[in-house]
Amino acid sequence: MEAFIRLSSQLHLVFIVFLCALIVINLYLLKSDRTFVKLSKRLELIAPQYYIVLSAIFFTGIIVMAVQQFTFSLSVWVMIVVWVGIVAFGIRGHKLYKKLERTEVSQNAYKAYATKKYLLDLVALIVTSILFYTVH
Ligand code: HEM
Repeated sequence: MEAFIRLSSQLHLVFIVFLCALIVINLYLLKSDRTFVKLSKRLELIAPQYYIVLSAIFFTGIIVMAVQQFTFSLSVWVMIVVWVGIVAFGIRGHKLYKKLERTEVSQNAYKAYATKKYLLDLVALIVTSILFYTVH
């Protein structure tokens, strides 16, 4: 049982590191000087991985919680709120992307939103992890 808990919590951490790596790749693509068509193709390629990794974080988190008989500490509440926030703003970004017009203004507005969103995701992941280790 000990080994199972350790494995789930290590996997939880590994997926958080994966998510950080995907955020950095997204930010790099958004800052690179590509045409919007090329950029959107790359972003569309990464988007599914982003949500698969987010689900894996949730899944491993639930396993650790189940083993700990669903005791909600402050850091776990923060993790859940951050997770829901990342997904909710991701859905908003997707809606914006679907409504994109072929004008530079609209494309730049989307790029600005996506850059801000990924930066905030990264900050939230780091702050949440720091909170967990300082509280423990
Ligand atoms: C995306 C946001 C999240 C971040 C940044 C995050 C971060 C972390 C970190 C760094 C740890 C410590 C892992 C270790 O040292 O092995 C941890 C543990 C844990 N996480 Fe998350 N997590 C997130 C989402 C979630 C979600 C959505 C859940 C629940 C559904 C969850 C449940 C847990 C539990 C139960 C633990 C163990 C807590 C304890 O041992 O007291 N996390 N998380």
